[in-house]
Amino acid sequence: MPPGRWVSIVTAQDLVDVQRLREEVSAHYAEVAHDPDGAFHFHTGRDATGRLGYADELLEGFPEPCVEAFAGVANPFWWGLPEPGERVVDIGSGGGLDAMVASRAVAPDGEVVGVDMTPAMLERARRNAAAAGIDNVDFREGLAEALPVPDGWADLVISNGVLNLVPDKVAAYTEIMRALRPGGRIQIADVCVEVEVPDEAKRDIDLWKG
Ligand SMILES: C[S@@+](CC[C@H](N)C(=O)[O-])C[C@H]1O[C@@H](n2cnc3c(N)ncnc32)[C@H](O)[C@@H]1O
Repeated sequence: MPPGRWVSIVTAQDLVDVQRLREEVSAHYAEVAHDPDGAFHFHTGRDATGRLGYADELLEGFPEPCVEAFAGVANPFWWGLPEPGERVVDIGSGGGLDAMVASRAVAPDGEVVGVDMTPAMLERARRNAAAAGIDNVDFREGLAEALPVPDGWADLVISNGVLNLVPDKVAAYTEIMRALRPGGRIQIADVCVEVEVPDEAKRDIDLWKG
C-alpha cells in the first residue's frame, strides 16, 4: 500500500471546543477498548490488520486480545521496522499493537513509549503487553499535543489513525519534532483529505469522530 499525498492539513482548534472533542473521542475509543467487536464505522482487529497489509510474521505469537482492539487506518511499518536498540514513540497507541510490534523489533536494548489519552485503551495496552511477555514498552497517559517524553528522546515516531483526531495539528507536529533526536524519523499512517474541509464540517464533533 503506497503512502498517500498531503494536500490539506486541517487545523481547527479555533473552530471546535477542544476539551469536548477530546472527551467525546476518548469516550468513543473507550467503547472500542471494552468491546472491540462492536459496531463501529471502521474495521478493527484481524479484519483491519488483514486489510491494511500487516504481514503475518509481524503479529505472530501475540495472544488474540493484543490484536482485537487494533483500530488503525493504515500501516506505519510500510516504510520498515525500527532497528534493534532504537527508541520509538507511538502517538495514540490505543490497544498497543503497533507499539508491541515496534517493541519486538527494537529488543532487547531498545525502548518504546506508547502515548494515549484514553485510560481504557492504556489499561488494555498494558494488559496486552504483559500477556505477550513484552517488557520494553511503557504505555503513558498523555496527549499528542504534549508528549510525555524528553526532548530528542526518540529515533522514530510512529502513529496510526490519530492525528486526524487532533484539532491542532501544528502543535502535534511541533511536539513530534521536539521528541525526535536530530536526524530522527517519522512514520505516520493517517487519513488524508484532498479537498478543503469547510469550517462547518470542522465544527461538527460527530464528523471528527467519524
Ligand atoms: C483510531 S484509534 C488508533 C489506535 C492505535 N493507533 C491503533 O492503530 O490501533 C485512535 C487512538 O488515539 C487516541 N487519541 C485520540 N486523540 C488523541 C490525542 N489528542 N492525544 C493522545 N491520544 C489520542 C484515542 O484515545 C485512541 O486510542
